[in-house]
Amino acid sequence: MGFEIIGTGHYVPGKPIKNDDLARVMDTSDEWIAKRSGIRQRHFCPEGQGASDLGTEAAKKAIEAAGIDKSEIDYVVLCTMTPDYIFPGSAALVAGNLGLDKVPALDIRQQCAAMLFGFQIMDGLIASGAAKTILFVGAEAHAGFMPWMDWDVLEGKSDRQVTPEAREKANRHRALAILFGDGAGAMIVRKTDRDAGLRGVKLFTDGDAAKLLYVPGGGFRTRPYWKESYFDEEMYIPRMDGAELFRFAVTKLPKTARELLAEKELKVADIDWFLAHQANQRINEFIRDKLGVPEEKMPMNIDRFGNTSAATLPILIDELTRAGKLKKGELNMLLALGAGIHWGCALVRW
Ligand code: UT7
Repeated sequence: MGFEIIGTGHYVPGKPIKNDDLARVMDTSDEWIAKRSGIRQRHFCPEGQGASDLGTEAAKKAIEAAGIDKSEIDYVVLCTMTPDYIFPGSAALVAGNLGLDKVPALDIRQQCAAMLFGFQIMDGLIASGAAKTILFVGAEAHAGFMPWMDWDVLEGKSDRQVTPEAREKANRHRALAILFGDGAGAMIVRKTDRDAGLRGVKLFTDGDAAKLLYVPGGGFRTRPYWKESYFDEEMYIPRMDGAELFRFAVTKLPKTARELLAEKELKVADIDWFLAHQANQRINEFIRDKLGVPEEKMPMNIDRFGNTSAATLPILIDELTRAGKLKKGELNMLLALGAGIHWGCALVRW
C-alpha cells in the first residue's frame, strides 16, 4: 500500500526569455550562461501574477490528466519560496481559485528540495488516513526579486538603453539572475493498494548554511518588517554564494544517494530514473559521474526553464509523464538541494 501519481500538469507564463535578452539589461552572454549552467531560456511571471496563479493553471491540467472530479481532492500541499503574500500561504489561494473550500491546504517551505519533503509529508498523510487524494503543487514567481526594473527592455518592447546605474545594479546580482525562472508543476497523488509510493527517503537540513541563499529584507526581525531603504539597499534580492552551494550539491547529493541505496541494498543499476533538481546542468553532470549514472537515466530540462525551485521536479515529472517515459512499477530516485540548506534523496516506486 502507498500512493501513486495519477495525473500531472505544468504551466509556464509568457514567452521564453533567452540568454541574449538578459544581455540587454546586464553584462552577460548566451555563451557564458550556457557554458556555466546549461540554461538557454526561462520564463518570467508578468506583473500582477503570482505563484498561486501559475499553480492554479498547473493544477487544472493535473486534475484533467488524472480524470478526476476536483471534489475528490481532500488535501492540498503547495510548495513555494516566492509566495503571493508573506501570509497567508499560497496553498490557500490555489485551493480558493479551484473552489476547494472544504479541504485543508498546507504550505511547505523547502525551496528547491520541496518535492522530497512533499513526498514524505504526502506519504504520512495517506498512511495516517488523513488524505486519500492530494493535489500537490510546486510554483514559483521569482521575477519579483530580479535585479532590474527595465522589463520592457528585457522583453524587447523597447530598444532604449538601460542606465549605467541600472546595469551596474543588475551586474552585482548576475550570477543569481541568470539561474532562476518561473513556472509551476502539479500532480494528483492518490492512495493505492498497488506496490507503489515512497520506498525510502533521506532528508537533511543544515541551518548553519542558511545564509548561502536567502533574502535579507522583508522579514519580521525588523520593525516594520519592510523599510523604505530596502529598495536602495537591494534587500529584496536574494544573496547567494553560488560556488559554495555548488560544492554542497556535488558532495552531499551523491553521498546521500549512495547511503540510501546501501540502506535499501540497491545498486545504481536497479534505479530506472534519476530525477534530479535542475539548479545547474554541471551540478547534475557531476552527480551523474560520481554515481556512475548513464546520461539517459538522468533527464534534464534546465535549458528551457532555468531553475524553477520548488516547481522544477513537478515540471520535470509532468514532461516525462506526458512523453510516456515514466511508467508504473519503475523504481525512481529523486535528488534535490535548496536554500535552507535542505537536501536529500527519495526512492519512489511509480
Ligand atoms: O537551487 C538553488 C541553489 N543554487 C545553486 O545551486 C547555485 C549553484 N551555483 C551555480 O550554479 C554557479 O555558482 C553559478 C552558475 C551561479 C555561477 O557560476 P560560477 O562558475 O560559480 O561563477 P562565479 O560566480 O564564481 O563567477 C565567475 C566569474 C566572475 O568573474 P571574475 O570575478 O572571475 O572576473 C563573475 O563576475 O563570472 C562572472 N559572472 C558572470 N559573467 C557573465 C558571474 N555571473 C555572470 C554572468 N555573466 N551572468
